Formats: sequence, structure tokens, C-alpha cells
Amino acid sequence: MMKVLGIESSCDETAASVVEDGRKILSNVVASQVEEHKIYGGVVPEIASRRHAEAVSSVVEKALEDAQLKLKDIDAIAVTYAPGLIGALLVGVNYAKGLSYASGIPLVPVHHLRGHIASNYLSTPELEPPFLCLVVSGGHSHIIEVKDYTDFKIVGRTHDDAAGEALDKAARTMGLSYPGGLNLDKIASKGDYNAYQFPFPRVDGCPYDFSFSGLKTSVINIIHNLKQKGEEVDVVNLGASFMHAVSNCLVKNTEKAARDLGYKKIVVAGGVSANSVLREMMGETCKKNKWELYFPQLSLCGDNAAMIASQGYYESLKGNFATLDLNACATMPIDK
Ligand code: KG4
Ligand code: ZN
Repeated sequence: MMKVLGIESSCDETAASVVEDGRKILSNVVASQVEEHKIYGGVVPEIASRRHAEAVSSVVEKALEDAQLKLKDIDAIAVTYAPGLIGALLVGVNYAKGLSYASGIPLVPVHHLRGHIASNYLSTPELEPPFLCLVVSGGHSHIIEVKDYTDFKIVGRTHDDAAGEALDKAARTMGLSYPGGLNLDKIASKGDYNAYQFPFPRVDGCPYDFSFSGLKTSVINIIHNLKQKGEEVDVVNLGASFMHAVSNCLVKNTEKAARDLGYKKIVVAGGVSANSVLREMMGETCKKNKWELYFPQLSLCGDNAAMIASQGYYESLKGNFATLDLNACATMPIDK
């Protein structure tokens, strides 16, 4: 049995978790800063770094305590080193390096998006690669061939905004608080998605790629025009139509990629994978094609350290360890 301690601090959650053999969660502690960032309408990087520095030690201690383990029982320390807010990442990376140095426990660097994908290994213990994965978070929208636990190939990407970013910005213009995507889902998922029509943005020569900035601009324009006329914004129906338009792009491109590349197993990951409209539409598409479909359980869709510990297990099996000169990186492709 291999026990991995995961540490995650790439954005606005300080998280630590212990996972056994990549699949069994022994503890999962998440300290969210969302209430503080809400005041500013989005994550303030400087504040995020400071809160991570304050929280990381007690969050790691709590993760060990909840798992009823001591540090000496841990076989590897996995930490998110990229991508994310650089100051935020550095807090987790440096803490993990200190722990590793003091204890002699090996250090495993984990890519944040690889972690999001691994949240599915925790939710569905029998799930194994290869599969096609739609990764949709606040910062990324990718269609990825997951050939093996540590072998990835990006086949589709966004040319501008990520899906979560577009949802957050649209929601903010509708007067909803941060995180907008989540609040939009709560308010608008039952609305009439035919109330407003949006175009289907295509990227020339890249059939699996996304572009969400045009959609986002059209929804912002609709809201501004209504406001100028002194009319109320119908958040429920406009939100439903927009969420449907974004989900439609995600689902249609994933369907095309799966058909062309011959995948019959579809996996969705990242914060936006919690979205009810995306879940429903992807569900219908996979049912129609008789494909298997996997989502993380709702509690593991957002940022957490269990997914980092899970991926850390598979990275360590491949011998992907770091030395104490490990650095954090704000950007880093998943397939490097
Ligand atoms: O993966 P994540 O927690 O952080 C990043 O790695 O970026 O994703 C955060 C994103 C935010 O844009 C948030 O609005 C969105 O996920 N999100 C949702 C839902 N829950 C979180 N978007 C749509 N529907 C949701 N239920
Ligand atoms: Zn994330």
C-alpha cells in the first residue's frame, strides 16, 4: 500500500489530502478563500498567496490527522507545481520541499490538469486509460487523449477564454457573484435555453478547438443594450441560453474528436464538469453514441488535493520525482 500526501495551492483553495494507491481517499481537507475573493469579484493573486502561507501548515496537519497517520507513514509527497497563479503555487511547492527535505520522503511534482483528470480515478475506481477527456476549468478548455496515466496528447484547445472564464465573466455582468459559473448554474439551469440564440464559434482548420470570447461578448452586449433601454435582464433565460451555447460547443467538439479518433470512453474533468447543463448534454450525446461517460463526483470537481495525490501515485510509479530545486510554473502544457 502506497500512501501519498497531496498538496494543492494553485488558485484560491489551500488543500491537502492523503490517498492510498491512487484510488482511496483517507483524508481530504480544503480551505477555501472564496468568501474573501468574492468582495473583489474574482481571485486577487496577492491575497491568495498570503492566505496559502497562513493556511498550508494547518491544512497539511489536519489531512494527516484525519487519515490517522504521521508524516513517517507517508511514502511520497505530491505537490501541484504548474499551471496556476505563480505566487500561490510557490507556497505549496516550497512547503512540500521543506517537508520532503526534513523527512527524506520523495517529492513528486504534479501538473494541475493531470490532477483534475485523476479526480475521476477517485470517483470511479475501475476507470483506466485510454480515454478521451474534456478538461474544463477556470483557466483551461482542452480535449485531451489520455493514452496512459502519464501520457497525454492535446487535440483541442481554446483560442481565447476558457469555458469557466467565459461563464464567470458573463455571470458577473448579469450581477451574480464569484464564482460566476457555479452561481449561474444554480440560478439558470432550469431556464429556457431557446430564449436567446448564440452562434456556434468555429476555429478555421482546427475542428476540435474552441473560441468563447465571441459568445461572451455577445452576452455582455445583450445585457448592456437592455440596461441602456432601462429593461430588466432576464438572468434565468439569458443564463440558460448562454450555458447551453457554451456546453453545446464543448459537447459537439468532444463528440467530433471521439468519432474521428475512435474513442468510446469519454471523461470530463475540471471545475466546469460540475455544470448541470454540460452533464445533461454530454450524457445525451454519449447515450446516443453508446459511449461510456465518466464525471468526477461533485465534491471532487473543484480544486482539491486528493486529485493531486492520486495523480502523484501514478507519477511516482513512473519514477517522476523532483529534486529540491523544483520550481513552480504559471504555464506548462499537460503533455510535457
Ligand atoms: O477547476 P477549477 O476549480 O479551478 C481552476 O483550475 O480553474 O475551476 C473553476 C471554474 C470557475 O470558472 C467556476 O465558475 C467554474 O469552474 N465552476 C462551474 C461550476 N462550478 C464551478 N461552472 C459551471 N457550473 C458549475 N456548477
Ligand atoms: Zn483547477
